[in-house]
Amino acid sequence: MRFEEREILLKDGRKCILKPNSSEYAAQMLEYLKATPGETDFLLRYPDEVKWTLEEEQKILDDLRDNPYAVMMIAIVDGKVAGNAGVNGIGYQRKLRHRCSLAIALYKEYWGLGIGSAMLDYLTELAKQVGWKQIDLEVVEGNERALATYKKCGFVETGIRHRALIFDDGTYRDEILMYKEL
Ligand SMILES: CC(C)(COP(=O)(O)OP(=O)(O)OC[C@H]1O[C@@H](n2cnc3c(N)ncnc32)[C@H](O)[C@@H]1OP(=O)(O)O)[C@@H](O)C(=O)NCCC(=O)NCCS
Repeated sequence: MRFEEREILLKDGRKCILKPNSSEYAAQMLEYLKATPGETDFLLRYPDEVKWTLEEEQKILDDLRDNPYAVMMIAIVDGKVAGNAGVNGIGYQRKLRHRCSLAIALYKEYWGLGIGSAMLDYLTELAKQVGWKQIDLEVVEGNERALATYKKCGFVETGIRHRALIFDDGTYRDEILMYKEL
């Protein structure tokens, strides 16, 4: 969906712009999608799983921007991509259409500056506007920074999905389930 650009002040005094993602950022997004999973084990993708082309990424981003039931938000600091976050409907069935799910990741150099919290607050406002009644998300066990950020922004823990992820070395990780009522 399209939404108003918002400027926020970071803990280090810099400014950050939150705005709809679009094909304009496709090349930087492909770099980001490959780089961020290399900086943390807490994302679902491995870098080598990003196999689509620039043209495909451009179409994905513009389709999301033009979809009234999806929010794709990019964070820009000093003209560069700092991170991205999105909210998508769980399903179009009547019994499911009150729920959406959230995903967020920033480049490591931008962690701890307040961008994540600001994006979560803005996404919450926009999800309410869409008409969703709750946001669901999952956090990989051990991701204390993400857990703290979500709790600060009003999300509560509801359970654990055991062995939710399997890593290339054969080890498993649980996921913590969280949600926020809107
Ligand atoms: C998780 C993430 C989105 C949070 O965004 P952020 O901009 O770093 O978060 P903020 O700066 O807004 O807030 C972080 C909060 O966590 C707290 N925190 C940081 N590390 C912590 C830890 N180890 N234990 C407890 N709290 C911690 C900070 O003190 C801060 O709270 P405060 O503002 O009250 O002091 C970001 O760090 C990120 O992209 N991480 C990698 C990808 C990821 O894990 N994505 C989430 C997948 S579920």
